[in-house]
Amino acid sequence: MYSLNAAFKGFGLGCICLAVTLPFTYGFQKRNYDYKPKDIITRDVCIIGGGSTGTYSATRLHDMGKSVVVVEKKDVLGGHTNTYIDPVTHIPIDYGVIDFHNLSIVTNYFTRLGVPWTTASSLYVDFNTGKMVKGFALAGQAAFAQALGVWIAQLQKYSYLSNGFFLPDSVPTELLMPFSEFVKKYSLDALVYTMFEFRQINILVQPTLYVMMNFNLDLINNILNGFLTTASHDNSDIYHSALSILRSDVLLSSHVVWTDRSSSDYIKIGIQTPSGSKLIKAKKLLITIPPKLSNLEGFDLSKNETSLFGQFSNVAYYTTIVRHDGVPDNISVVNIGQDTPWNLPTLPGILSTYPSGDPGLHEVKYSSPYELSNDAVKASIVAEFNQLRIGGAVASATTPEFVVFDSHTPFEYSVPADAIKNGFYKKLYGLQGQRRTWYTGAAWDVHDSSLLWEFTETLLPAIAA
Ligand SMILES: Cc1cc2nc3c(=O)[nH]c(=O)nc-3n(C[C@H](O)[C@H](O)[C@H](O)COP(=O)(O)OP(=O)(O)OC[C@H]3O[C@@H](n4cnc5c(N)ncnc54)[C@H](O)[C@@H]3O)c2cc1C
Ligand SMILES: *[C@@H]1O[C@H](CO)[C@@H](O)[C@H](O)[C@H]1NC(C)=O
Ligand SMILES: *[C@@H]1O[C@H](CO)[C@@H](O)[C@H](O)[C@H]1NC(C)=O
Ligand SMILES: *[C@@H]1O[C@H](CO)[C@@H](O)[C@H](O)[C@H]1NC(C)=O
Repeated sequence: MYSLNAAFKGFGLGCICLAVTLPFTYGFQKRNYDYKPKDIITRDVCIIGGGSTGTYSATRLHDMGKSVVVVEKKDVLGGHTNTYIDPVTHIPIDYGVIDFHNLSIVTNYFTRLGVPWTTASSLYVDFNTGKMVKGFALAGQAAFAQALGVWIAQLQKYSYLSNGFFLPDSVPTELLMPFSEFVKKYSLDALVYTMFEFRQINILVQPTLYVMMNFNLDLINNILNGFLTTASHDNSDIYHSALSILRSDVLLSSHVVWTDRSSSDYIKIGIQTPSGSKLIKAKKLLITIPPKLSNLEGFDLSKNETSLFGQFSNVAYYTTIVRHDGVPDNISVVNIGQDTPWNLPTLPGILSTYPSGDPGLHEVKYSSPYELSNDAVKASIVAEFNQLRIGGAVASATTPEFVVFDSHTPFEYSVPADAIKNGFYKKLYGLQGQRRTWYTGAAWDVHDSSLLWEFTETLLPAIAA
């Protein structure tokens, strides 16, 4: 096939002939040869997605002496990182990713990028008073401490979950239990709301496995001892710095049109960029984007890839900064269900509002079990603020004004307990390295940048080999 097409390339007429009679072959030929040399990018590794794990991988592989190219659909790197800079006060507000774990993988990365860090204070809010406090308020409460101790013992029991879904062949039944049952079994009542605050979705119906992955030992250590954040409080600095290292190896506002992983020598990826179609030829492919089938159109997925990715479901998550003079600047409003189990709020709904540190501006987080239009979410936020006003929690009648708004959907990927029981994650991880393709990202571990960098790091030696 290879040399046949090459031969036709030399004879324009033959090529057209082939197009008329054999459209599929023509399509194949076009994939290989209709690119001018300037539109062919040859690299060791092609990385799809320039969010948290894609940017981390690109920077690390670059430093390991590998040539890389990153294909990112948005016009910025950073994925769930959102920073709004108030044009008047110049105060930066991170309304997406805020915190990182105090781990050497994080400080090494930040050092490499020349991004100074500091202890994050954002999570030290006493939600009963809205006051910023030193140390985690709830940790002092006896019932909380008791439940936390029980939970830590459970996490230690399942320590094989510390860097990915490395489950034994026979998955312990407890891990498959809906989390509400696990809470009852171990009397974790005092801990549930805090766990919800970190996972921000309906944890009660999820298999316990996911809560364990999320509310893990390292997270607890950081809750108790302090997270890190950028000293500038502008987490986009991480991605501006990475871009200045990677430069033209990052293709922004670009997406994959097709992939061809049939050759044993290299992978071909057809992409659309602002400066036209390009062909990437890479020895390895690293896919970091949400592995939903709807997001993988054009990829030459195997039967196994299709069947595994088709099982993921996700929830929806939205962040915004609103201007509202009725909510005091020193108050965090937290949504609590009065008559619901463990006081978890009913979703879809606002999770909480936080003071942004910029007078009049409040960060609002909104979670939904299913995808909603941005307009529907905004309408719901306005209605909830009105409710607060009627309830007396908010003083003014003004409607919140949306300063910035972003959908972080899809968010939190999961599969049903039965799939986990039947070895879903073993099969999923079995895809690593097949057809020169590797995978990382939140669906493969946990929605937590620091821990995802640790997970990703374990893949890099094979990708760089
Ligand atoms: C609002 C919010 C706040 C969070 N706060 C924190 C926090 O404080 N600390 C923390 O550790 N974690 C936080 N998380 C979780 C964190 O976002 C994830 O852990 C991390 O971003 C996941 O990294 P990733 O590489 O899998 O995905 P992402 O960072 O989302 O990167 C995926 C990238 O792929 C791009 N992409 C998607 N589809 C395509 C496509 N078809 N073609 C090309 N590109 C594509 C996306 O635009 C994106 O840039 C937060 C998440 C949200 C939503
Ligand atoms: C990170 O943890 C170390 C102890 O491991 C501690 O000395 C250091 O102060 C912490 N850094 C920050 C910024 O909190
Ligand atoms: C596809 O999955 C099946 C079942 O898990 C497995 O036996 C087979 O080896 C997989 N095929 C490839 C090519 O990985
Ligand atoms: C918030 O600020 C107002 C006005 O300065 C003050 O009266 C109130 O006590 C503060 N509330 C908290 C929880 O600190």
